[in-house]
Amino acid sequence: MPTEENILIKVKNLKKYFNLRTGFIFNKAAGSVKAVDDISFFIKKGETFGLVGESGCGKSTAARLVLRLLQPSAGEIYYKGINILKLKRSQMFKYRREIQIIFQDPYASLSPRMTIGDIVSEPLEIHRVGDRSSRLKRIKETLKIVGLNPEHINRYPHEFSGGQRQRVGIARALVLQPELIICDEPVSALDVSVQAQILNLMVDLQKEFNLTYLFIAHDLSVVKYVSNRIGVMYLGKIVEIAASEDLYKKPLHPYTMGLLSAIPIPDPNLERQRKRIILPGDVPSPINPPTGCRFHPRCPNAQEICSKQEPELKNYTENGNDHFAACFFAGKPI
Ligand SMILES: Nc1ncnc2c1ncn2[C@@H]1O[C@H](COP(=O)(O)OP(=O)(O)OP(=O)(O)O)[C@@H](O)[C@H]1O
Ligand SMILES: [Mg+2]
Repeated sequence: MPTEENILIKVKNLKKYFNLRTGFIFNKAAGSVKAVDDISFFIKKGETFGLVGESGCGKSTAARLVLRLLQPSAGEIYYKGINILKLKRSQMFKYRREIQIIFQDPYASLSPRMTIGDIVSEPLEIHRVGDRSSRLKRIKETLKIVGLNPEHINRYPHEFSGGQRQRVGIARALVLQPELIICDEPVSALDVSVQAQILNLMVDLQKEFNLTYLFIAHDLSVVKYVSNRIGVMYLGKIVEIAASEDLYKKPLHPYTMGLLSAIPIPDPNLERQRKRIILPGDVPSPINPPTGCRFHPRCPNAQEICSKQEPELKNYTENGNDHFAACFFAGKPI
């Protein structure tokens, strides 16, 4: 069990419900989207915690809650032991400096009218770091660190390729020397050949600057490549949390087993023998999630209890590493 000192972020029973309203004049309440529904996890300093799950399961909402861009419906978020939901505006300003985000789409997240120098400079100006000349020096250094030519500081985003643009996004996140970087699908919009370069850059930067990452993706093969520990999300809940290796070698939740079976194996002989598990049906709506275990309508192992009772996250550790899963039949093959 990690000690409190080496935990950077701890999230407890976090919920975010978006209220839905219908009608123009009367504006009646019409239920809510349970985007994040009681999740808890922690991230240790210097590690990468991966959050994986299908589209719409609440990953980006969780990221926005941690950044406090959204106010949670319930729950607590601790940064270095301090509840950030209780911070005042001025204290929040300092927190914002220590936590940065890299977005999925480097086309949409970089302003087309700003030069890359201005884009990387903006966080320094907002946080009033240094004067003009020291900022310029820092911007050039940061561009170099992420593998861009510092002489291109006056160019615009459209003059760069997708991979280079994401490097600009990384430089922008890095320039304030943050503690934690939230990476929300940072390579999903890129060509496969470029994905590996960007992932390798992120791994190198982490080692060099002792960064902590919350790494979000829908693709378990990408998350597995970079993460020390992984949380698997399904319809607003975390259904399994384990060290990457344990999750990969011995998944306990049938949803994780399904996600894993979709990853191709690089060896053609093994790949031919591989059994692919195709989960039936689509992800249900988070407005009216299924009763009991939310996964039960798609689960090949579901029994009567699964539709009636909600399984709790339980620790099934075998090797001393925590391995939590929320399933009445955890570990049963599908
Ligand atoms: N502002 C909002 N108002 C209402 N519903 C929202 C809002 N933001 C997100 N949602 C809903 O919350 C759920 C979770 O969305 P979220 O964007 O967190 O998912 P995600 O896991 O990041 O998906 P993706 O992989 O597509 O990025 C979705 O059903 C989404 O439609
Ligand atoms: Mg998202």
